[in-house]
Amino acid sequence: MTLLQWQERYSVGIDAVDHEHKELIELINRLHDKLTANGDESSIEAFFGDLFKGVSSHFALEEKLMRERHYDQVAQHKQDHERLLDEIRDIMDEFSGEADIAELSAQLDAWFSKHFETHDARLHQALTSHSQ
Ligand SMILES: [Fe+2]
Ligand SMILES: [Fe+2]
Repeated sequence: MTLLQWQERYSVGIDAVDHEHKELIELINRLHDKLTANGDESSIEAFFGDLFKGVSSHFALEEKLMRERHYDQVAQHKQDHERLLDEIRDIMDEFSGEADIAELSAQLDAWFSKHFETHDARLHQALTSHSQ
């Protein structure tokens, strides 16, 4: 079962960002598959590592873009990125083979869809209205 699904409304109108959002969704779905398939713990840990790297480099790209375009909510947006990274770090630290997969999946889904629909959507609006 696919956990997260790309939606047109997630688009921020910047190809590089949209591309990375799609990749992150893909990565989270693969992690979810691995967890539900009862993969061995070491491969799941390595996977969390990849997810963390993918997410942090994506956030770095958005933050660079926001600074370049003098976006008015850089601090708030960056704070939400940091919160998400902290939560992933906590999950990684606490991860054990008996993790509650349903709960973890719901958490990942909630984070990303919410961040896309709020902070990233607002960024999209600001960037597109400024470029006209
Ligand atoms: Fe963001
Ligand atoms: Fe994003």
